Amino acid sequence: FQYEDILFGPYYLKLADIGKNLKAIKQLKHRPDDIILVTYPKSGTHWMSNLLYMMTSDGPIDKKSTIEVPHLLLDIKQLENQKAQRIMHTHLKFDRLPTEHVENGGIIILTVRNPKDVAVSLHYYSTGSVGINSQLSWSAQLKYFMEGKVRFGSIFEYLRHWNHVIRTHNYPKILVVYYEELKKKPVDVVRHIQNFLGLKLNDERINDIIARCSLERLKRDSNDRHKRHEPLSAVVNKENKTVVYRKGVIGDWMNHFTVAQNIEFDELMKNKLSDTMFKFDYYPDNDAP
Ligand code: A3P
Repeated sequence: FQYEDILFGPYYLKLADIGKNLKAIKQLKHRPDDIILVTYPKSGTHWMSNLLYMMTSDGPIDKKSTIEVPHLLLDIKQLENQKAQRIMHTHLKFDRLPTEHVENGGIIILTVRNPKDVAVSLHYYSTGSVGINSQLSWSAQLKYFMEGKVRFGSIFEYLRHWNHVIRTHNYPKILVVYYEELKKKPVDVVRHIQNFLGLKLNDERINDIIARCSLERLKRDSNDRHKRHEPLSAVVNKENKTVVYRKGVIGDWMNHFTVAQNIEFDELMKNKLSDTMFKFDYYPDNDAP
């Protein structure tokens, strides 16, 4: 359903009073160490959230539990009262972020992923999740994805939006992280993020954080949490297992796109993204075409 200019999945209605929460987000009081992680869905939100959480906390990494990082839109009440440093994630655009955060040049991390793998990831998420319960075939889902008739709208418009913000707003504290780079060079990317955040983590700790946030461990922890608590119906399948952590690779699109779909998608991307800053990597190996 559509609320003002935002497209939501129907289950959001069950989880939050959207209008009220959008207003509360705008009014959220800023703290200098707040971090807002912005992503288009299925771009690595949970992975990056947990990396940020581990990077900003003390104590032995191995003993730390991974977490469901609070959602700006759904968990705004919790965030207002949270004592610990706040890492909050959202799929909302720049103009919907907390006013004080933006006025104070608060930290924003934008994580992006190649749109072909995002399309595939979204398909499995939507058909696997009991809350969304999509019955769409891959080709129907891809068509909607290309038209932007999916939750949070078109990925192309989303990327165009952030491209515009970054190029025109001169915002002091925004970092773009590519999922594919994180996958291929995790240590370099985590080091880069730590420099951006002004942290000083030694190499051993960085390696521990990366290992603690591997797909397998995040998946296992998430399933353990679901066993203990009543989960959000959008994030689990019929067996009460996570639908968020799936394959975690670059290039799964090659197992799904037909040649014709790929040509059409490439054409659309050329039209929509070639004049933006975003250049994506579509292949698991560096020497791919
Ligand atoms: P796939 O469905 O392609 O496997 P989000 O958190 O934004 O919903 O993104 C989910 C996607 O990120 C899923 O992609 C998921 O498997 C992937 N992901 C999550 N944790 C990951 C990790 N540690 N390493 C690589 N990919 C990860």
